[in-house]
Amino acid sequence: MPRVVLGVAGGIAAYKAVELLRQLTETGHDVTVVPTDAALAFVGAPTWAALSGKPVSASTWDRVHEVPHVRIGQEADLVVVAPATANLLAKAAHGLADDLLTNTLLTARCPVVMAPAMHTEMWEHPATRANVATLRSRGVLVVEPAVGRLTGKDSGKGRLPEPEELAHLVRQVLARGSADLDLAGRRVVVSSGGTREHLDPVRYLGNRSSGRQGHALARAAVARGAEVVLVSSSGLPDPAGVKVLKVTSAQEMHDAVLAEARSADAVVMAAAVADYRPAERLAVKRKKTDTLDVEFVQNPDILAALVAARGQGQIVVGFAAETGDDHATVIEHGRAKLARKGCDLLVVNEVGESGHPTGFEGTHNAATVLGADGSTTDVPLVTKDALADVVWDLVAARL
Ligand code: PMT
Repeated sequence: MPRVVLGVAGGIAAYKAVELLRQLTETGHDVTVVPTDAALAFVGAPTWAALSGKPVSASTWDRVHEVPHVRIGQEADLVVVAPATANLLAKAAHGLADDLLTNTLLTARCPVVMAPAMHTEMWEHPATRANVATLRSRGVLVVEPAVGRLTGKDSGKGRLPEPEELAHLVRQVLARGSADLDLAGRRVVVSSGGTREHLDPVRYLGNRSSGRQGHALARAAVARGAEVVLVSSSGLPDPAGVKVLKVTSAQEMHDAVLAEARSADAVVMAAAVADYRPAERLAVKRKKTDTLDVEFVQNPDILAALVAARGQGQIVVGFAAETGDDHATVIEHGRAKLARKGCDLLVVNEVGESGHPTGFEGTHNAATVLGADGSTTDVPLVTKDALADVVWDLVAARL
């Protein structure tokens, strides 16, 4: 059972850490909660103790015979601090050790994830920026806060990402089993979901993409230290630490991806983009007729546009949702598509009817990743998270 230390600093988002604790224990993690005194002012020790099944203290002076200020950090497989306040970030950056949590951070040799939450002004203050940069330079995974409602009536950057997404990120880092942030300092753009091409205000043409594979790619890139932009037409929750741009149609996805790609080190097109859209989008609901004639026009090919516009050293990855037919196998179709599209890597996944084990909708996928250099990487049926890590391994090796 992976041993996780959940550090909780004194911010109002401490109440969300209760749900994070629940998510982690429910998915088979042995969690030790180490709050600060200020965190205990928001959520009391009985809550943490009851949900973790362990005694809880903020102090180095309790159960001294067990040497908790050293033991807890040494025994951990991962430390996650959520929320991490500006004060906690400052203490950690400067190596202060005046309570159990800051001592634990100094003794831990496992991956450390910090999820800051604070008001926008505090997050943007040069002191906090410098502390975050120091922690990142030491290999701490400092997750970008979410944008949205803050404590009071105000909104902005500084929200703690949703507990379920933080728990997913923790599992992703643990599954990788490494604190190696090989995408640190890199900016990546990922697309996810199926585009919707509207006929009128009510109806659209879409496809079965859930967005799961693209979201997994975004999450995996965060876990490896990248700055991540996700351009998505999916309704899935925003992954922790990701800037999400919501789009609907292929044209909107084209505009957002191309704009974000200008300063990106890598772009991964996992979205299922409609090749065609209705020539006309009616302003009023189309009335029922015996037959329906709709003229379609081609959408822009985003992947082709990315390849044409790419800067020096940028890696462009496409996906191919393929079915075999009388003319060629899935892989033969994939090779032809790689040659046509001109990207660096093409992740070929077979798709089929609903219930097919790979491709659309499910939690798992299998693929063959074809490289423009002639390489072939077979990935058996694994979680979409695991496939995402294979894709980033291949990207990281090319960057
Ligand atoms: O979202 P999930 O339910 O998890 O499902 C995942 C997935 C099956 C959607 C994903 O793994 C996948 O295969 N995505 C690509 C689907 C697709 O559109 O394949 P394609 O063979 O039609 O397109 C090839 C590539 O060109 C893709 O990278 C696509 O994003 C891109 N494309 C396609 C058309 C277009 N107009 N512009 C594009 O950029």
